[in-house]
Amino acid sequence: MVSLFLKDDIIKVNVTRGKTLREIARKSGASMEFGCRVGDCSTCLAHVTKGNELLSEINPKELLVLESVGQESKVLRLMCQCSVEAEEGEIEISYFF
Ligand code: FES
Repeated sequence: MVSLFLKDDIIKVNVTRGKTLREIARKSGASMEFGCRVGDCSTCLAHVTKGNELLSEINPKELLVLESVGQESKVLRLMCQCSVEAEEGEIEISYFF
C-alpha cells in the first residue's frame, strides 16, 4: 500500500496502484481545485515533496503545461495527469496555488 499525504489539507490516505492523484484528492475531500481535468490548464499543479519516483512518468501533455509555467522539474506535477505506479512507499504533496 502507498501512503499519500496531502500537506495543505492534512489528509493522509492509503492508495492503490493505478489511481490518479485527482481521483485520490477528490475521494479524500481535498481542497485542491481542478479546472480542465485533462491536462490543459495548471490549476492542479502540485509539488511532490516526497515519493515522485512512485508516480507515473510525465506524459507529453503534462510536459507542455509544466514548460508553460516555466517548470520542467520532476517535483512539479499535474495531479490530474499522474497516477500512483508503485505498490508500497510514501508520497507527500503540497499544492502549488
Ligand atoms: S485540472 Fe487542468 S491540468 Fe489538471
